[in-house]
Amino acid sequence: MLINTWYVATESASVADAPVGVTMLGQDFVVFRDKAGTAHCLSDTCIHRGGSLCRGKVVEGTVQCPYHGWRFNNAGACVEIPSLGSEASIPKRARVDSYPVQEKWGWVWVFLGDLQEKDRPPLPDFFPEYAAFENGSTDWRFVRGTYVFDAAWTRVVENGLDTAHPFFVHRDFGNPDHPRVDPIDVQDRPFGSYMTRTQKPVEKRGVWAEKITKDRPDVKTELQFHASGPSVRIQMHLRPPMSQIIVSAYTPINDKQTLSWWIQGRNFFTEEKYDADSRRRVLTVFQEDGDVVNHIKPVHVPQSLSGDLTIYPDAMGFAFRKMIKDYEARGWRIDTKAMAADDDVARAIPSPARGADPKNWVLDPVLLRPARALSAAAE
Ligand code: FES
Ligand SMILES: [Fe+2]
Repeated sequence: MLINTWYVATESASVADAPVGVTMLGQDFVVFRDKAGTAHCLSDTCIHRGGSLCRGKVVEGTVQCPYHGWRFNNAGACVEIPSLGSEASIPKRARVDSYPVQEKWGWVWVFLGDLQEKDRPPLPDFFPEYAAFENGSTDWRFVRGTYVFDAAWTRVVENGLDTAHPFFVHRDFGNPDHPRVDPIDVQDRPFGSYMTRTQKPVEKRGVWAEKITKDRPDVKTELQFHASGPSVRIQMHLRPPMSQIIVSAYTPINDKQTLSWWIQGRNFFTEEKYDADSRRRVLTVFQEDGDVVNHIKPVHVPQSLSGDLTIYPDAMGFAFRKMIKDYEARGWRIDTKAMAADDDVARAIPSPARGADPKNWVLDPVLLRPARALSAAAE
């Protein structure tokens, strides 16, 4: 698992008056709103006696620990220690890590790492249809949800970028009589990559069949990856102008489980009565992927790029593997084995304030694999 990128922590709509507990990268966090309604995210472990802050309350725009009532503001600084009285000075070490937060597409995105603002990647901007919807457009209709994979995030993201599996895994996407993938041109995009492909259509079933199946041309699919999330946009031009988009962001819950946040958009059947059918179709796709990806060996993508056999239809996933190597070479990969051997210790993902001032913190940072020369990483 990698630090120094943005992850989706929760739905904006689920953060109201109470603190919300979230597990990402094997660590616990609390998300809450201040008095102005702005969302914030702190490390969940109270530095007094280890209380879980998400089990406390939001008081005056701060999070109050359920154990002895210490309160922490949106910067993670303790602002009240009730047992010392209101006039007591608060020790400088009485602080927890606070992480940058942005809300976009109805999700709360949290930057888990210690980079200063100028060095952080942006959020993806590849979903203008959703932005238009938020501004009142009714051209597209959206449904949203989650799916939990019992698989490592690297395998799950790679599956989202895999061009050759739909023919064997997805009844509604891949025509098993035409499994051949034409040569792929993967283009670099800022913090990610993009490709298109065209394939033979599949007979649609259910209510979509009446609009989409007859006299159908080949289906053009656009696939885009962004390191923040990490997120994937897939747009299928089912029968122009009818089109379906699925945007997913993949949050590692821990080393072996991945939470997929997804939004599906469609520019046909835009009445509410078709939402349940759309949701069912997306969840079927995730379930079909899960049935394969949850059983892959080894659990993580191989350490070496030559640890399995890559062919040209794997090009998009291969670009993703190279991105992981780049992050690892910078020393941004959590050393999960060392952490597991030391699991009596509570730690925190280092936040930007810790990056600027590494001293005077109670919890030690998570253990990271050492940085390596970038050239060695590309092996
Ligand atoms: S453990 Fe949080 S206030 Fe004591
Ligand atoms: Fe799939």
